[in-house]
Amino acid sequence: MEPVNVAIIYYSATGTVHALAQAAVEGAVKAGAHVRLRKVAETAPPEAISARPEWARHLQDTADVAEAGHDDLDWADAVLFGTPTRFGNPASQLRTFIDTTGGLWYQGRLADKVYSAFTASNTAHGGQESTLLALGNTFYHWGGIIVPPGYTDPVQFQSGNPYGTSHVAGDGPPGEVALRAARHQARRVVEAAGALKAGRAA
Ligand SMILES: Cc1cc2nc3c(=O)[nH]c(=O)nc-3n(C[C@H](O)[C@H](O)[C@H](O)COP(=O)(O)O)c2cc1C
Repeated sequence: MEPVNVAIIYYSATGTVHALAQAAVEGAVKAGAHVRLRKVAETAPPEAISARPEWARHLQDTADVAEAGHDDLDWADAVLFGTPTRFGNPASQLRTFIDTTGGLWYQGRLADKVYSAFTASNTAHGGQESTLLALGNTFYHWGGIIVPPGYTDPVQFQSGNPYGTSHVAGDGPPGEVALRAARHQARRVVEAAGALKAGRAA
């Protein structure tokens, strides 16, 4: 069977979600998928970015990550979206990308793919679940097949979010539990998308 194509599309201002996205890449590659890691375009004004050195530094550090385009969505059998929590919602940078997909949606080209999402917030209970559920609203509109991690691996009882991998950035960068959870989530997405792909090819 052809390998599963996975697009991992994320926004990260200061590197936390980027680290989770990289772990998701590892999990998907290990599960045998072809993977594209893509960041969405930065839309914040330069003065906002330069006011936070860690933001400017992360943008520079990830300058070589390709920007997400519609062809990445079209290509993918499964898409994992990563975003920081912004007042309990996905970051506007990711929403801006998603809000350009009307044409693809209208042609039915976003339907029947597997979707899943991960996030970070600064505080515990800071809106991680509402952010993931808000992204889920879009997946429903697209006719997507949502594959959450649930409690399908022992690491989920440590990381504790069945809706999607989540990290409290206020505690520092993602540690081994969050990274393992991201790898597990990606592996599960690849397995679900692979079963669907095989079933459709049969
Ligand atoms: C405008 C704005 C709104 C935010 N809203 C929340 C929030 O509702 N809850 C929370 O815990 N953290 C909030 N944060 C903190 C971010 O979620 C946190 O910095 C982010 O997850 C770090 O991810 P990154 O390093 O990938 O950018 C907010 C940050 C900004 C700039």
